[in-house]
Amino acid sequence: MKIQNVKAIEILDSRGNPTVEVNLKLEDGSVARAMVPSGASTGEKEAAELRDNDKNRYGGKGVLKAVDNVNSIISKAVQNVCFNDQRSLDYFLIDLDGTSNKTKLGANAILGVSMAFARAKAMSSGIPLYQYLGGSNAHVMPVPCMNVINGGKHADNTVDFQEFMIAPHHATSFTEAIRIGTEVFHALKLVIKSKGLSTGIGDEGGFAPDLKSNEQAIEMILEGITKAGYKPGVDVSICLDPASSEMWDNGKYKFFKSSQKLVSSDDMIKLYENWTNQYPIVSLEDGLAENDWEGWKNLTNALGNKLELVGDDIFCTNKSILLDGINKGVANSILIKLNQIGTVSETLETIDLAYKNSYNCFVSHRSGETIDSFIADLTVGINAGHLKTGSGCRGERIEKFNQLIRIENELGKSAVFAGLKAFKNVKA
Ligand code: PGA
Ligand code: ZN
Repeated sequence: MKIQNVKAIEILDSRGNPTVEVNLKLEDGSVARAMVPSGASTGEKEAAELRDNDKNRYGGKGVLKAVDNVNSIISKAVQNVCFNDQRSLDYFLIDLDGTSNKTKLGANAILGVSMAFARAKAMSSGIPLYQYLGGSNAHVMPVPCMNVINGGKHADNTVDFQEFMIAPHHATSFTEAIRIGTEVFHALKLVIKSKGLSTGIGDEGGFAPDLKSNEQAIEMILEGITKAGYKPGVDVSICLDPASSEMWDNGKYKFFKSSQKLVSSDDMIKLYENWTNQYPIVSLEDGLAENDWEGWKNLTNALGNKLELVGDDIFCTNKSILLDGINKGVANSILIKLNQIGTVSETLETIDLAYKNSYNCFVSHRSGETIDSFIADLTVGINAGHLKTGSGCRGERIEKFNQLIRIENELGKSAVFAGLKAFKNVKA
């Protein structure tokens, strides 16, 4: 099947920053579109996101160079060429770029083409995207980990930790889980309001009030769970992403938005141990910084047998970094973000490596998103069992949930809701 044409344009993401949209047509008439997301608390080793750096447009954030790379270099190279499968296109693009982290063409240019091709191929084969990505065994519906309180780089409040999520794992289906999660989200709004705090939201749709401490965020969420009529730890548990690379300050961790206190890696681990004893936490992502590998090993030794420890910035969806982590006993799960690595095939390879080594995969959106719901299909495709894609509001987050509701309906009796066992090493 030949690619008939591929065309990119510059569109906007959920923060009002430019991003790349790619439209791709196969010779049988299958047409597909993909939109590329963008992070704020990015890992140092992520594939390169190409921006124009022209201060006269969008404060330098324009992506016209990446768009042009699709419309000139990539388009010329792939037009009327037959790619039998995803890998043949993706590795062709990797070679065309020729750099180790996609700096020449831009990971945003390459990923847009890769995702649009995946969609077009699925369409052309007459199968849903999740099946194209994962095969005929794709059937596990994920626990939606909903980021109901935003802090860190995603909100202008006093909360240091970036993400406080709820995991409505005690449900019989995804559709029911999303109802429970959204009911808690609404109850939490009332809790926050009753304390005279702001119910304005952050980048991922979670509330972003000024709080006295990071603990207060957890306490309020527990109140919200109870207020909505559910039992913390039984029906709904908590996942955290402190995004602590943002707190890393010369070998210490700085509570950069609240107390300005500096603490050690061991202090952070003690804090998580205390929290794990006190609160129903099932997953901790980026508890320590991407450059604190020793700390990560200690954290994994301390908590890895009872909690899901997810590596985001430290692994960057990169299979060689993940392999290093596996060999060193770092984390027990990996966050999966397509644009950290830049092609669908490399993302699937990283997932494969994780599964072969009993690491869980936790699929994720970026803080800068579009209404593209590719990750919803990816989550089911790889039977990941859980994903994070925002809270109970903001269209670009909700679209992923809605796509998962559609998939669950389509799968019908074949669909199996993952529940608590989605979380690595968490015992009921
Ligand atoms: P980002 O945040 O998209 O801003 O990187 C998401 C995360 O840290 O998981
Ligand atoms: Zn993260």
